[in-house]
Amino acid sequence: MEMLSGFGNEFATEALPGALPQGMNSPQKVPYGLYAEQLSGTAFTVPRGEARRTWLYRIRPSAGHGAFHRIDNGALCGPLAPHNPNRLRWNPLPLPATPTDFIAGLVTLGMNGTPEAPAGISVHLYAANQGMRRVFMNADGELLVVPQLGRLLVATECGRLEVAPGELLVIPCGMKFRVDLPDGEARGYIAENHGAAFRLPDLGPIGANGLANPRDFLSPVAWFEDRDEPTELVQKYQGALWATTLAHAPLDVVAWHGNNVPYKYDMARFMAINTVSFDHPDPSIFTVLTSPTDTAGVANMDFVIFPPRWMVAENTFRPPWFHRNTMNECMGLVHGVYDGKAEGFLPGGVSLHPRMSAHGPDAATTERAIAATLAPHRQEGTLAFMFETCAVLRPTEACINAGHLQRNYDAAWSGLAKTFTGAR
Ligand SMILES: [Fe+2]
Repeated sequence: MEMLSGFGNEFATEALPGALPQGMNSPQKVPYGLYAEQLSGTAFTVPRGEARRTWLYRIRPSAGHGAFHRIDNGALCGPLAPHNPNRLRWNPLPLPATPTDFIAGLVTLGMNGTPEAPAGISVHLYAANQGMRRVFMNADGELLVVPQLGRLLVATECGRLEVAPGELLVIPCGMKFRVDLPDGEARGYIAENHGAAFRLPDLGPIGANGLANPRDFLSPVAWFEDRDEPTELVQKYQGALWATTLAHAPLDVVAWHGNNVPYKYDMARFMAINTVSFDHPDPSIFTVLTSPTDTAGVANMDFVIFPPRWMVAENTFRPPWFHRNTMNECMGLVHGVYDGKAEGFLPGGVSLHPRMSAHGPDAATTERAIAATLAPHRQEGTLAFMFETCAVLRPTEACINAGHLQRNYDAAWSGLAKTFTGAR
């Protein structure tokens, strides 16, 4: 599948030759009789480096639709349970037993924003077994999708992307899309970002290269459907699902240019940086994407990965250390084993470590790490990740009461023996 390479680029692409207007965005007559429509991802007057918008040249403007009406939310966006200071961990979301598409398969784990505020995140899980026969748009934020099981074939207004476990996908706020399941089943994680759009972190002393490199981000080329058949369009607006039926298929953009675009990234391309002496850096060294707040260095959300890498630290307790953070950590596992947990954290599982909750390696991992003969070793065949956010995530009732919530997660640390002897 042909793709466009780069991050934040002003791409230009057309599915029919000459469909893109030249020299202006909105000519009196667009080639092929198309309509021009701008999709803005930021306010018009933000600094140029922040600005995101795309010009879409389409068969019908998006404005041609009837009223939206409320439909059932399923397990999406609450209701919320009371705030909960406990460390929480879930087994993988069960795959559905009845036909369930990507929208119906969404289950919200927690949220930390009010629907009206342009800040915070919502964390969702998905488990689906049927391709969408409808089209979805999210008016509440951009979606960072992390597949854990099964590929997603995602048709968007900007074109098509196939995303496999090990890759991530970002879909801009308000962009219409449809998800098909080439493998029949799919499961994964979603961070819905209500704040500033994701961007690559600054690299500081690392220099001009490293972590996620811009050229490894891929966006689709223009592609369109021209089908005059009724199509349901579902949107999420302030946490609620609404639907309307269009007389046509709405993925009808023949050409586009701009930088407010969907993109994917293969996390195997991440250049991990770590210590070559002792200790290890804070996990921020593994940041792939960040959504900043107005306070320098405080992320609305960081997307952080723990990929295969060499561990060479000398005289060092190598697993993630024991810690208590002001930030809130939601972790997932795409495949393999996370080096901080010997058991219980399964691929497809998820954990939530809220602000100031004490956590770190479990007892078995700790004992092994203290006793280990330190030599370079490779952390192989693993991909864990973290949605780290500055505001407390409030869990949903559905997930607090779910059968796949582990009721004994605290026991992961209960075997930490007193090893203090009073002597060095
Ligand atoms: Fe942590």
